[in-house]
Amino acid sequence: MLSVTGLTKSFPSAGGEVTALHDVSFSASDGEMVSIVGPSGSGKSTLLSLLGLLDRPTSGSIMVGNQDVSGLSAAARADYRCRTVGFVFQSYQLIGNLSALENVMLPMEYAKVPKAARQARASELLEHVGITGDMQDRRPGRLSGGEQQRVAVARALSNDPSLILADEPTGNLDKKTGAKIIELLKGAAITFGTTVLLVTHDTATAKAASRSLTLEDGALVS
Ligand SMILES: Nc1ncnc2c1ncn2[C@@H]1O[C@H](COP(=O)(O)OP(=O)(O)OP(=O)(O)O)[C@@H](O)[C@H]1O
Ligand SMILES: [Mg+2]
Repeated sequence: MLSVTGLTKSFPSAGGEVTALHDVSFSASDGEMVSIVGPSGSGKSTLLSLLGLLDRPTSGSIMVGNQDVSGLSAAARADYRCRTVGFVFQSYQLIGNLSALENVMLPMEYAKVPKAARQARASELLEHVGITGDMQDRRPGRLSGGEQQRVAVARALSNDPSLILADEPTGNLDKKTGAKIIELLKGAAITFGTTVLLVTHDTATAKAASRSLTLEDGALVS
């Protein structure tokens, strides 16, 4: 269960302050996929970076389960980013000199999973997202965009996160390939009970979610 209350984020700027997010409150259940839509600059990525503890809110709280994660120490924030949350980005963000398998193993290495176990789980997750056989040993440069995004989804799932934050995960993909990625994310919500927050500006993609939140000028309007 994710529960966000009064989340506000201001950035200093030349003319004073820019409020990227203003008093945002909502919750999302385990196993629920919620889409976040809104015009460019409305605060979607800012919201995800706060939820991923990549940045700190100006005010407000973020509860994951029954823990208020907005008040964690630096070490606990790093641990949260590694174990509790999985990220999927528009541009895949895989590590270019590691194989698909090694990319998926990496977060488990940070989480101190023994090598044999992380190798087995990475291979299993890659199979699950349709990356099979020798494709698992290829570097990202030798995989298509859709294949790379599948690897990114497997990586996001590696430490069995409570929350997946996906920022325009289909933005660089054709319609059909994008739909497959959304299916995988929705499947993860249903199968593993992960809460998935999906930022998209594509209405068809947004409809795959059980619910849609709309941001305008940093505020939730629906
Ligand atoms: N680090 C920063 N410093 C200053 N302003 C920022 C910073 N990050 C975001 N902003 C501002 O906050 C607002 C929201 O930006 P954000 O990236 O969250 O929008 P978005 O909804 O993700 O847009 P897009 O659909 O184009 O990705 C914008 O006005 C942006 O310029
Ligand atoms: Mg954005």
